[in-house]
Amino acid sequence: MNTADLIARFQKVYGTAPQFVARAPGRVNLIGEHTDYNDGFVLPMAIDRDVTIVGAPRADRQVQLHSANFDNDTMFSLDDIEKLTHNTWSNYSRGVADVLQNDGYALAGFDGVIFGDVPIGSGLSSSAATEMATVMALKAAEELTAKGAKNAKTEEKSAVGIDGVSAARYSQQAENQFVGVNCGIMDQFISSLGKRGQALFIDCRSLSYELVPVPNGVTVLVVDTSAPRSLAASAYNERRAQCEHAAQIFGVKALRDVSVAGFERRKGELPLLVAQRAAHVVYENQRVLDAVAALRADNVTGFGQLMNQSHDSLRDLYAVSSKELDAVVDIARAHEGVLGARMTGAGFGGCAIALVKDEDASALAEVMTKEYPVRTGREPKVYACVASDGASWNPC
Ligand code: GLA
Repeated sequence: MNTADLIARFQKVYGTAPQFVARAPGRVNLIGEHTDYNDGFVLPMAIDRDVTIVGAPRADRQVQLHSANFDNDTMFSLDDIEKLTHNTWSNYSRGVADVLQNDGYALAGFDGVIFGDVPIGSGLSSSAATEMATVMALKAAEELTAKGAKNAKTEEKSAVGIDGVSAARYSQQAENQFVGVNCGIMDQFISSLGKRGQALFIDCRSLSYELVPVPNGVTVLVVDTSAPRSLAASAYNERRAQCEHAAQIFGVKALRDVSVAGFERRKGELPLLVAQRAAHVVYENQRVLDAVAALRADNVTGFGQLMNQSHDSLRDLYAVSSKELDAVVDIARAHEGVLGARMTGAGFGGCAIALVKDEDASALAEVMTKEYPVRTGREPKVYACVASDGASWNPC
């Protein structure tokens, strides 16, 4: 559904014209996996798939949402926000409104139609995109209301002023505290601050970031394994705990504080499994720094090799890959023009990416579509993605 379709849907559902379009993208991570919650480095890019909310402010404190993906509706009062066990798609929006209000923000109610073409549950951060699109919708509703009424909300903070980094933090908080998923900040951050044509090098401790151009002449091909991600949440939490354990033994705040040399000196102090998990994180942080340097030096080959090393480490040391992800990576690496391939996101199913020369991208997509089902018995979904702008809203 494009914006015009969503505007038409809004008119049909609410019988009036919408006043704003808010949107936020999904993401792929180029390198730096399972480093964000270790205060480390990541290099994701926002993709050209979004969650969009077409909306209009309301005079009262209700938020009404119609999901065009699920064709159902939900409504809540900003004065009493509950988490649902049905219509769970709305918990991301409810959570964002809840954390903002708890932090003293003034919010206006709105009516909205929400739709996403970020595939749901495949590891391309449809949840983060929903959270960020909701922040944008709440900013839009507040700004349009405040303009119209100028009602004195002097003691409350205005949602209008929420900047990109804070928006990401509130969205992560919504996911951690309201939805109950213990994720790091990468997905929300890139959905908030992505830029067209650029990847974002993020320091997940200081939350400082730099744009790094995605090189010309290469395509980021995303392959969805179509495999369920049922174990992801418990395994994710287990990995986090193992990293914290390693940091505790080393006497540091987070594994970010351990260099490759320091790790090699002291790894014998860790239980074997914890040492393997920590090795992934410590070396992966260094790989992100090397990858940024490679891109800045226009060394796409070197960048691709680091992607390969990242995958191998996630498979062998961090143990978050799957036979489907490994199959995608193997098929890709055997193909002409592929510079590197790796799983992206949390793992245990979801998506892998291949960095492939533009001229070889469609042949790779074709080979993947043929060979992956033979290897796994599943049908892949293959998308070429381009680095896109982060969250925004516009009047309409
Ligand atoms: C998920 C989480 C992120 C990050 C990745 C792994 O996408 O939401 O915060 O931890 O997994 O890199």
